[in-house]
Amino acid sequence: NANPRLAQIFPSLVRHLHDFAREVNLTVGEWSAAVDFLNDCGKMSSDRRNETQLLCDILGLESLVDEITSKQLATSTTQTPSAILGPFYRSDAPFLPNGTSIVQGLSPSVSWYEKALEDSAFLSGKVLSTDGKPIENAVVDVWHTAPNGLYEQQDSDQPEMNFRGRFRTDQQGRYALYALRPVPYPIPDDGPAGRLLGLLDRHPNRPGHIHFIVSAEGHRALTTQLYDSRDRWVDDDAVFAVKDELVVRFEPREGDPGARWELGYDFILGRC
Ligand code: DHB
Ligand code: FE
Repeated sequence: NANPRLAQIFPSLVRHLHDFAREVNLTVGEWSAAVDFLNDCGKMSSDRRNETQLLCDILGLESLVDEITSKQLATSTTQTPSAILGPFYRSDAPFLPNGTSIVQGLSPSVSWYEKALEDSAFLSGKVLSTDGKPIENAVVDVWHTAPNGLYEQQDSDQPEMNFRGRFRTDQQGRYALYALRPVPYPIPDDGPAGRLLGLLDRHPNRPGHIHFIVSAEGHRALTTQLYDSRDRWVDDDAVFAVKDELVVRFEPREGDPGARWELGYDFILGRC
């Protein structure tokens, strides 16, 4: 076969699909409804919203393949665990100096002004190699939602690239930035994936999280998320992405008018 991986995957896929259909006595009507459903997901998808990915996520499939892939690529048990990318990453966030803020457009006229002040947070730490050595010039790419639970591209009231930034570590491998303590929010539930959640009596909520892609020369890029330990959905994520090592505790910050909370977190990258 010209494609050995396909020759491995496809017979197994067909076997499991057939076994599944036999096990539940799938009818023509049910199969046809599933085809319509997948087509609806495709129709709803655009470069702003990937409904088919969302479907995979509520089935736990993106989290599962992330787990499988990261286990395969891991070169050390001490490296920081990965988590799913999610559908809202933008690859071209601005590079910002260490110690600056990813919060833009904060003014008393925005509906989430008070909440943003309450949730202001200072994030800092190091990027390390699995041997414990700090990595200089690593890139920490970070993004999260506004306090209304919307990413900048979902929300016409937010400035472009709000709550997104890329930071470079210094000689000691340190990064530092101002952001917000993240809020929980529902994944978009106004399309077919949301309809399915409703049919299954499942909620659409994700625990508050901050996304990161941490990359450095000679190391495997790490895509991950950090979760607030005090979030009510931290044990019940609609897309099954939470891992214990990624659950963090924000502490009150003293003497900094820029932040009420602080979080120290070191990212450990595996070599490639
Ligand atoms: C999903 C992931 C996210 O990080 C997010 O913010 C919204 C949705 C998802 O897996 O579908
Ligand atoms: Fe997210």
